[in-house]
Amino acid sequence: MSNTRREFLEQSASSIAATTASAAWILSSDSVSAQAGSDRITVAVIGPGGMGMAHTNLLAVNKSVRVAYVCDVDEQRAAKAAEAVTKGSGQAPKIVKDMRQVLDDKEVKAVWIATPDHWHGPAAILAANAGKHVYVEKPCSHNVREGRLMIEAARRNKVVMQVGTQSRSTPHIQKAIEKLKSGVIGEILVAKAWNSQRRGSIGKQKPSEPPKNLDYDLWLGPVTHRPYQSNFLHGIWRWWYDFGCGDIGNDGVHDLDIARWGLGVETHPTRVAALGGKSYFDDDQQHADTQYIAYEYASATKNGRSKQLIFEQRIWSPYVQEGFENGDAYYGTDGMMVLGKAGKYQIFGVRNKLIEESTGGGPDLAAHHQNFLDCIRSGSRPNADIEINHLSTTLCHLGNIATRTGRVVNFDPAKEQISGDPEAARLLAREYRDHWARPVG
Ligand SMILES: NC(=O)c1ccc[n+]([C@@H]2O[C@H](COP(=O)([O-])OP(=O)(O)OC[C@H]3O[C@@H](n4cnc5c(N)ncnc54)[C@H](O)[C@@H]3O)[C@@H](O)[C@H]2O)c1
Repeated sequence: MSNTRREFLEQSASSIAATTASAAWILSSDSVSAQAGSDRITVAVIGPGGMGMAHTNLLAVNKSVRVAYVCDVDEQRAAKAAEAVTKGSGQAPKIVKDMRQVLDDKEVKAVWIATPDHWHGPAAILAANAGKHVYVEKPCSHNVREGRLMIEAARRNKVVMQVGTQSRSTPHIQKAIEKLKSGVIGEILVAKAWNSQRRGSIGKQKPSEPPKNLDYDLWLGPVTHRPYQSNFLHGIWRWWYDFGCGDIGNDGVHDLDIARWGLGVETHPTRVAALGGKSYFDDDQQHADTQYIAYEYASATKNGRSKQLIFEQRIWSPYVQEGFENGDAYYGTDGMMVLGKAGKYQIFGVRNKLIEESTGGGPDLAAHHQNFLDCIRSGSRPNADIEINHLSTTLCHLGNIATRTGRVVNFDPAKEQISGDPEAARLLAREYRDHWARPVG
């Protein structure tokens, strides 16, 4: 076996393991409520791959839902998901590969979308237009324009649209944010988010025939056609511009979302500067493996001063930073907090006096599901409503645009436009081929 091939295979396994490990969730027995069978919400899972199987396994044993469909363009993955649903619930779901069959079924009230990022916007918009409530994985969109179209589709169709940043429903993170909002470290002027972990190489590959079990054309969807390459999928599409948003949109978006939440900014930044690129990997991966981004929010404090958010990413580090693979720090006028996504925070006062330390559980995926289902019943906005996540996912897009162009991005938060840089402005959206899933609006 050639080195490149071996590295690629090792990476495939390690990428999936890393993604799964870093997305460690817990099953809270309270939040999986046992409700009467007649009250069940009929749902479907679209894209039961790595994360999609985590959703499928939880939904299969959730007595408040009935999983009517599993939909995947890879028939092996669809079959595996159907097996899990049958085992967990005692009822076999229908297996389909074209999501339109799910969306056409009036019985289906809600869909979980765990496809690659390039399908999030198109699938969520189609689902909302078909009147389905939507749980869509993070980053909510592949680009800024699609995020805005998703908000419009959710509001126009009056459906709930929850995004898969489960930290928003995790008690330990909620408690840390409440602490910050109570003023424990004074006024927070700066927050930092980081993603520091070891990923694998995706190798270098040439176009080849797609596997027989995969409908590659459906996998591509509205993306301009390009020949199949074995290092597009599964899981590793995230390192390609056409399909994913890099690790900032993968693990980074959780950290940026928590940082923005604690910093208390409910708008887009006005200016973004970045440095980064491929410092470590010599492979096909297009997104940066090393990134430093500074976001400025003009007039964000009570007295009209700016706030800053900093993002750091090194995906070649066989060690963690400040004790956490993924974490956030908040710098206030009276103290600071260091918060790990995996469930610990420390609050320091002047001269670094330890004021409080707290350890809690990891991300609570079941609670996030429950919040979505509760909102379907109550009509309330969910914890990670599309409008909330659009602000955090836009940080990934603007950070990537500033990294790719190497220029400071001046952003109009109200119009969601970049001024004075046509090349950067073009990256706020993308081109499509003529396809039924191409978002319009
Ligand atoms: N919330 C979290 O903590 C968390 C953790 C990991 C991944 N994710 C997110 O979940 C999503 C999936 O990531 P992954 O690592 O599981 O990727 P993956 O490639 O393993 O899985 C994606 C699945 O979608 C299927 N698919 C692609 N296009 C489809 C279509 N048109 N219709 C139906 N199925 C289709 C693929 O065949 C595959 O089985 C990403 O957006 C990722 O960011 C979230």
